[in-house]
Amino acid sequence: MAKVTGLEGVVAAETDIGLVDGERGHLIYRGYWAKDLAVNYSFEEAAHLLWYGSLPDGRELAALQTRLRESRKLPEQVRLLLDALPKTLPMMGVLQAVVASLATEEEAVWPPKVSQAERLTALLIAIIAYRHRSLQGLAPIDPDPELDHAANYLYMLTGERPNPDHAKALTAYLILGMEHGMNASTFSGRVTLSTQSDLFAAVSAAIGTMKGPLHGGAPSEVIAMLEEIGTKDRAEAWMRNVLENGGRLMGFGHRIYKTKDPRAEALRIVTERLTGGDPSFELALHVEETAIRLLAEYKPGRRLYTNVEFFAAAVMMAIKLPTELFTPTFTAARTVGWTAHMLEQAGINRIFRPQSTYTGRMPVFGD
Ligand code: ACO
Repeated sequence: MAKVTGLEGVVAAETDIGLVDGERGHLIYRGYWAKDLAVNYSFEEAAHLLWYGSLPDGRELAALQTRLRESRKLPEQVRLLLDALPKTLPMMGVLQAVVASLATEEEAVWPPKVSQAERLTALLIAIIAYRHRSLQGLAPIDPDPELDHAANYLYMLTGERPNPDHAKALTAYLILGMEHGMNASTFSGRVTLSTQSDLFAAVSAAIGTMKGPLHGGAPSEVIAMLEEIGTKDRAEAWMRNVLENGGRLMGFGHRIYKTKDPRAEALRIVTERLTGGDPSFELALHVEETAIRLLAEYKPGRRLYTNVEFFAAAVMMAIKLPTELFTPTFTAARTVGWTAHMLEQAGINRIFRPQSTYTGRMPVFGD
């Protein structure tokens, strides 16, 4: 009998939240193209869509913006916990612990509330920024109520108001990271919530799942490639050399997307619009164009397209986000999708309880 592994192809839930279709290159959030949301909408609008099922009107948007802004300030007990955690604990472990600690008696309620999802989303970036600065011996930066979610994240990390183009590129990245179907962390969060556990415990479980290198994805290998290439004039020779030696170009090809990855497409559009002379964006666009031409020459018929990691790397390089914050930032984005799934799970809840096939030894009968 074939080994049962990874639940590949198994439908674990019905959902109204997101569709991933790798053959057609479709990524849809509640009836809207994620690509369109990333290019034309704000973080707050996309989050409203995932949590509430519709894009907000002006009044709803203003109200959500206010609620998110009011939730950015770290409660004293969170600061104390952040200061007490060992400095050697990596950021994903920090997030898992701090999020779990928010499940106080008043908060650990069933069913979970959308207000908890909002507050957690706003808090996560403040937690990341506080911890990151504290590890560098820098004083924390208070949130800036005039800035939106992405711009405020950059501000709380650096203490400087970000270039609006960089904030826009980060917004697009965050929107595209919000949701991706029944991926491992979303599944794990839904399973935890299905026991009528609270939203914070479920997000903490999802963070633990996201932490693994097979899931958390980091565009660092693409960044290493772009840094090694360095300048546009070196790109073609550098990549030909890799391909002639049987190597792979980082940021191209995908196991699921056998056509253009819609997340890469959206980030390319944002990158193209925002280049404004930014050298890292210009280098990335040139490398991509050259790579696609060379892959068609060296690997004809293999259906190799630019994947999300490529343009994520361009965005990360432009905004100068430290490597150790890539997965936590992705986590901060995915929290919106996780919590939307958890709220949906709560509405139709039935505890997850799959079966396993016993393949171990049986006792000896009849002796
Ligand atoms: N550069 C050059 N050739 C490639 C690349 C690439 N990036 N990706 C695949 N190929 C070639 C392979 O060499 C192989 O060629 P062959 O038929 O001559 O042997 C053919 O395309 C098929 O390759 P597979 O490994 O079977 O394709 P698969 O779909 O399993 O791999 C993967 C997907 C692992 C992402 C692959 O494309 C890859 O290694 N890409 C580079 C690393 C990368 O960008 N990773 C980030 C992925 S995005 C994400 O995880 C969110």
